[in-house]
Amino acid sequence: MYIMHIALQGCLRANTVEYGITSDTGGHIQYLMQLVSASASDPRVERIDIVTRAFDAPFSAHDYRRAEETVNAKTRLIRLASGKPEYLDKEALHTELDDLTAALNAYIARAPRRPDFIHAHYADAAEVAAGAKACHGIPFVFTAHSLGRVKQAHGGASDPAALARRIEYEEGALARAALVFASSRDEAELQYADYENYDPGRIRIVRPGIDSAAFRDARPADDAHALLARFLTEPDKPVILAIARPVARKNLLGLVRAYGQSPTLRERANLVIVAGTRQRLADLEPELAENMRALFEAIDEYDLHGRIAYPKQHRAEDIPAIYAWARERGGVFVNPALNEPFGLTLLEAAAAGLPVVATDSGGPNDIVSYCDNGELVSPHDTDGLATAIERVLADRRRWGRLSRNGRRAALDYDWHEHANRYHALLADLDAAPAPAPVSPRARLLVCDIDGTLVGCRTGVRRFNAWQAENDDVVLAIATGRSFHSALDVLEQAGIRRPRCLITSVGSEIYHLADDGTTYRRDHGWSHRLAANWPRADIAACVADVPGVLAQSPLEQRRFKLSYLTGDDPAIATAVRRHLRCEGLKASVIHSHGCYLDVLPQGVSKGAAVARLRDRYGLPPEQVIVAGDSGNDAEMLRLSQQSIIVANAEAELIAYPGLTHAYRARAGHGRGVVEGMQYFLGAGVRAS
Ligand code: GLC
Ligand code: MG
Repeated sequence: MYIMHIALQGCLRANTVEYGITSDTGGHIQYLMQLVSASASDPRVERIDIVTRAFDAPFSAHDYRRAEETVNAKTRLIRLASGKPEYLDKEALHTELDDLTAALNAYIARAPRRPDFIHAHYADAAEVAAGAKACHGIPFVFTAHSLGRVKQAHGGASDPAALARRIEYEEGALARAALVFASSRDEAELQYADYENYDPGRIRIVRPGIDSAAFRDARPADDAHALLARFLTEPDKPVILAIARPVARKNLLGLVRAYGQSPTLRERANLVIVAGTRQRLADLEPELAENMRALFEAIDEYDLHGRIAYPKQHRAEDIPAIYAWARERGGVFVNPALNEPFGLTLLEAAAAGLPVVATDSGGPNDIVSYCDNGELVSPHDTDGLATAIERVLADRRRWGRLSRNGRRAALDYDWHEHANRYHALLADLDAAPAPAPVSPRARLLVCDIDGTLVGCRTGVRRFNAWQAENDDVVLAIATGRSFHSALDVLEQAGIRRPRCLITSVGSEIYHLADDGTTYRRDHGWSHRLAANWPRADIAACVADVPGVLAQSPLEQRRFKLSYLTGDDPAIATAVRRHLRCEGLKASVIHSHGCYLDVLPQGVSKGAAVARLRDRYGLPPEQVIVAGDSGNDAEMLRLSQQSIIVANAEAELIAYPGLTHAYRARAGHGRGVVEGMQYFLGAGVRAS
């Protein structure tokens, strides 16, 4: 495989990138260089090019005009010249895109071999990639790194025209890319959702890596101690740690206020703010200087002297030691950002074994729910921030659990793992066969995920082995999870890519596309649901019922409102009654004794299975469904051939209308296989 990356912004070079030398020489370059280095170590990859722009750089000793540099044995950096010779900020690069497209097309035309894929990093590179696709027919994939619409929503437009242009390029990328890579569910499901060309089935989450070892093995070195202890009267108290550039979006001031206003926190813990490095405030970019001044003012206002450390200088290698220093003191890492596109520092904290309290806006809600290593809070709720930090510091047993969870989960954020999945997806895009049409004689298995397919390793192994031998049975999934979350678990469990997915408890349906890799959303289904769904009224009404608590923002979907309930079994009835009183119609589904989903009337996994059956023209006796909990009840009731796995929830067993179901003796995946053997006539009821 020959992959060509395009990244036009900042100062790219083969080695020792000068991070921070310009404001665009930051995170996305680090991501690209780490991806490329992991990618090159895979034997499937023969060659990698990184294409960037050539410019004069009087501000650096490096020659940024050189046409070619070697990154490693497989990887070259290619610089293409455009009309303007000088360095340009990302806002100004647009004037050069036509030149760069022409230069790239000429380069490809001259080269002895054409790349198999172009990978565009950032929206402007996607414009150039689209030009190469039009000229040479080379497919391209896209990573946005950060999104214009998110920036717009959070008020960050110093140059509105540049931002509007960037959003237009992003729309173009979404419309034309064969596949879009996202780092988190938040990016894939929320940040992209407002784009006109948003097409979730073509977006895949591939988690970026971090150098976990550097943080996992870090010790609280003397240098770190010296850096921080000199600020603090009692340096051995627990530490509340924040590490972020002092830009307004990072909301460090919100954290200082939360700390300053909480007598409990001031008494219990010290605050450590590592906000970049500086010589003189006056030499910083204005936004940074202004935010530092506001921090100093707040420190003085709350009289936090002796309780807060804010080192002026530190070295990159001090950072792991600072996390370790906080961990040894039973501390907590806080990211209070107004919005955080991804949240790499949370992973560093996790790897270092430091529990976290993080903003519920952006990538952190994904990271924290995946790592289960802390709490999410609204960055606008100062008291809420303080109490969340207090809770994490107060309960030592829980602290230990969060610390261990984070360390374990951080290992999954690994560049080699990333490169594996990335290459597998590219290889599939290139060569996966189009799915065969579903014949009217085919059998369709529609299977729930959690508690049914997954939840027991032997079960997953058994199911996969069965599936390999029975690949004439068409596999569909029906889950409460979102589309991206479902694909993620299936991939981790090594379960073959299903022909279709019914997600978010029946409110969304996706079909495998002709490329055998991406999915197409069933828009007809969405239209039908939209006709009768006063979402805001329903949400307001449910919020009135005591005992229901909204699930995280990620779990709220266009046609699915989700809540957590206590273990009161009558809660679903109370919600239904209240909706009825208000004249609102909806389907209310309770499962696992603690989840409550509210969907458009008549919607359930069962209704979605009926839609699949219609679409494929399958008679009822050829469709088999399997599940374990309340959100499977309707699909199990409505189907003639239903499997209930042995580990099913009590609420499902109690559900009326399920006497016809096959009650497997085995649990999880083994139970599904047992049921399939029963229905396919290959076996008898296990004795
Ligand atoms: C999954 C979803 C959650 C839903 C639950 C029950 O866990 O993520 O939102 O409430 O299934 O359907
Ligand atoms: Mg389940």
